[in-house]
Amino acid sequence: MEKINVALDGPAGAGKSTVARHVAKAMDYIYVDTGAMYRAITWKALQLGIRPEDTEAVIETARNMKLELFAHESGQQVYVDGENVTELIRSQEVNRAVSIIAQIPEVRQLLVEKQKKIAAAKGVVMDGRDIGSSVLPDAEVKIFLTASPRIRAERRFKEMNQPGIDLDELEKQICQRDEMDRNRVHSPLVQAEDAVLLDTSDMDLNEVVEAVLKLCRSKVTGE
Ligand code: DC
Repeated sequence: MEKINVALDGPAGAGKSTVARHVAKAMDYIYVDTGAMYRAITWKALQLGIRPEDTEAVIETARNMKLELFAHESGQQVYVDGENVTELIRSQEVNRAVSIIAQIPEVRQLLVEKQKKIAAAKGVVMDGRDIGSSVLPDAEVKIFLTASPRIRAERRFKEMNQPGIDLDELEKQICQRDEMDRNRVHSPLVQAEDAVLLDTSDMDLNEVVEAVLKLCRSKVTGE
């Protein structure tokens, strides 16, 4: 059966990665979490003691590091220079710095090229902020997932499962990150004109996955 590409965009905590992972599994497609790629560069820069505002040094880091993604049953595994950083890139330090680094055009260009290559053979479910609008403008299915900031904070809270994290603080961080992602000059977070909007505030995971799968199947079968 002919394969398609699925673009899943939306703000932080809308459930993109969980939904994308389930959809990819059901379709037997590859799941690509592009946020993890921005996080990996951020992690490496912080590791080298580089401030996220030091644009030149961040670009240099991004160009010199080896970033690899591997599909695994438990989800996408991220390697930087041979080290598995899948868990490390979810730290609060990375959370705080990643939106600054994701604004750098050279970093975006580097990653977008990589993302386009991964999706060239089709059969990819890719989640991010600019997938439908800029990375894969020809994706057969484009979804823009959203939910209220409070619900998104609650979901992140459960997902992080780390002690000492405050829900209100998390909600504030999510709103700040949305602001930066929406207002940046290069490839801002935006709903592509031809994307289907899904507000998941009152939907459970199964309902969202089913809604996305329905759209995918109708594209694949042409019905
Ligand atoms: O989805 P996430 O929280 O892991 O994303 C981390 C950051 O990377 C977030 O600030 C938005 C940014 N990002 C982006 O600019 N473009 C993408 N395609 C994916 C993520």
